[in-house]
Amino acid sequence: MQNSIDALKREFDCDIQNAKDLKYIEEIKLKYLSKKGPIQQLMKELKDVPSEKRPECGKWINDLKVAITEQVELLHTRFIEEEEANLLKNETIDITLPGKRRFFGRKHIITQVLDELLNIFSENGFSVQYGPDIDSDYYNFEALNFSHDHPARDMQDTFYLSPGMLLRTHTSNIQARIMETEKPPIRIVAPGRAYRNETITARSHVFFHQIEGFFVDRGVTFADLRATMDAFLAKFFGKDVETRFRPSYFPFVEPGLELDIRCLNCAGAGCQLCKQTGWLEILGAGMIHPEVLKNGDIDPEVFSGFAFGLGVERLVLLKYGIKDIRLFTENDLRFLKQWTSG
Ligand code: DAH
Repeated sequence: MQNSIDALKREFDCDIQNAKDLKYIEEIKLKYLSKKGPIQQLMKELKDVPSEKRPECGKWINDLKVAITEQVELLHTRFIEEEEANLLKNETIDITLPGKRRFFGRKHIITQVLDELLNIFSENGFSVQYGPDIDSDYYNFEALNFSHDHPARDMQDTFYLSPGMLLRTHTSNIQARIMETEKPPIRIVAPGRAYRNETITARSHVFFHQIEGFFVDRGVTFADLRATMDAFLAKFFGKDVETRFRPSYFPFVEPGLELDIRCLNCAGAGCQLCKQTGWLEILGAGMIHPEVLKNGDIDPEVFSGFAFGLGVERLVLLKYGIKDIRLFTENDLRFLKQWTSG
């Protein structure tokens, strides 16, 4: 045993003398002090040594281990210090070099405007709710008074996923869901994506964003709808805008209407933006149809309500004079970087 210990010591002395750098000392450390190294091996062999000799041999091995560890650690620390000193010596910092500008992400313009719209409605007492993008025919159509063969279904080319399931064609799918679970007064807005199987052009896309809103209570009238819309539009466009209601048809409202504002570009004189009409179409709205209230377990004899649905892309196009809806999804940074806030 003693011979083995001496041999190991000599081998180590030789190795350590050759240690010139950090890499080498790390190899030595691994070689001698690892779990499978020679010292551990000697420890294992200790059990074969006659018991009267065992304590003495154990001490030799331990002394050798302590000595090796000390020497290795000493050199290890020294090499690390040397290496750091060298690094510092060679490092130069040119403080005249320009800094690297970090690129910060930002919210997409559609998200920024969505947030802005929701804020306006929140300030006016509407709470924000979310409906599912994938929904049943019932909530997207039937509960909204579109029967199976209703011709108005053709106005909304639908992506069907499986019989009875579809990608919602509008965020109005929130209406019956909320009415089923909440009791009047209900005053909510529901933002989200809507999907239609349309040809993609500068004016239409297969998906876009809408905000649906509705208010149900006792004695809600057309005047409430008008006041709510006027307040919202003035806030959004930053000035009072002249509005008009034009009769229109949606199965879930009666009467139904479209809301126009005086053209922002020509103030009504007639231009390309308003197709010489002096007016811009902004959103659809109306008084909630009694059948829809009934589908939501609300008694139309007691309660009434208004609803509206607006297209977010359209509002952004108008507010910023953008001509092509496809820009929103092409993700060209030159376009998106124009809106810095958010
Ligand atoms: N859901 C309709 C659409 O996508 C928009 C709409 C019109 C919503 C009238 C309404 C409404 O709530 O009252 O074309």
